[in-house]
Amino acid sequence: MPAADNLKGQTAHRWKIPSLYLVRGAHLVEDILPYYAEDSLSAMFHDLLAELEPGCKGDAAFYLSLLRTSPADILELGCGSGRLSLALSKHGHNVQGIDTAEAMLRLAKFHRSRLDRGWAQRVSFTTGDMTTFSFPRKFDLIVAPYFALNHLPSEDAVLSTFTLVAAHLVPGGYFSLHVADTDRLSRPLEQEAATRATIQYDTAGSRLQLDIVERHLDPATKCCSLVLRYSMISADGAVGRTSSERLTYRAIEEAELDSFSARAGLCRVGPKVQAGETGYFLAFRNADKA
Ligand SMILES: C[S@@+](CC[C@H](N)C(=O)[O-])C[C@H]1O[C@@H](n2cnc3c(N)ncnc32)[C@H](O)[C@@H]1O
Repeated sequence: MPAADNLKGQTAHRWKIPSLYLVRGAHLVEDILPYYAEDSLSAMFHDLLAELEPGCKGDAAFYLSLLRTSPADILELGCGSGRLSLALSKHGHNVQGIDTAEAMLRLAKFHRSRLDRGWAQRVSFTTGDMTTFSFPRKFDLIVAPYFALNHLPSEDAVLSTFTLVAAHLVPGGYFSLHVADTDRLSRPLEQEAATRATIQYDTAGSRLQLDIVERHLDPATKCCSLVLRYSMISADGAVGRTSSERLTYRAIEEAELDSFSARAGLCRVGPKVQAGETGYFLAFRNADKA
């Protein structure tokens, strides 16, 4: 979650814009785009922001620690740019990633195309919704990383996801997720220490400036609507491409996840594992014996 005060003063010098975006990215975008839309800067800079999110640092090691078999079959819900799917498959596992955003899947396939053949063959990316997916096979591990479930608009959508996850896990298989901290999402924007973050993204000194323009929480739906303005600024201070993009997150309580997992036939494994101030990890297990 790109909360500006998380990112304050941070840099990611080694990060590079994927070259397929360098071809596209010269025009100004004035409308408010949905997050991860075609040509969005949220898609283009996703991996940069993931590098700065505490719950993404070392998350592959956390998910891998749950595996009891190798090579394992893993499903990633909301795989985005493939950041995690590619890291998990590097360890010899077979990974299926699904996502609703074509722009993100295109990035994932682009990153995969740069790997050696053996590694690339272990990863598949397909269009799919985590609330309705169906595969003719089961998985040893299903993951919903980097606030994936917070993108779902309702309790019904979260429950559908848990039900499908349970149906797609082998006996004894694990489901693990990284969830956004609810308090942060509910906090009025006026209470934020900063609403702007500036992140250097290349060695020439180019910067991404991120401003939180709006943030509203609807207490009835628990959905938080954020408008973030992305501005690309060159080393000499010239403002290049800008884009305002809307992200909707739904606050999910730990108790809601425990309740839905029990209804789906999954049991909780261990306590929640806090990842910085922004979120935490949970793990559940298919209650059927392996
Ligand atoms: C914050 S990104 C995380 C990407 C990736 N999992 C990672 O950890 O780097 C969240 C992703 O969830 C996807 N998403 C949102 N709603 C979804 C849904 N209903 N089904 C599948 N993917 C969804 C978005 O398109 C986006 O790519």
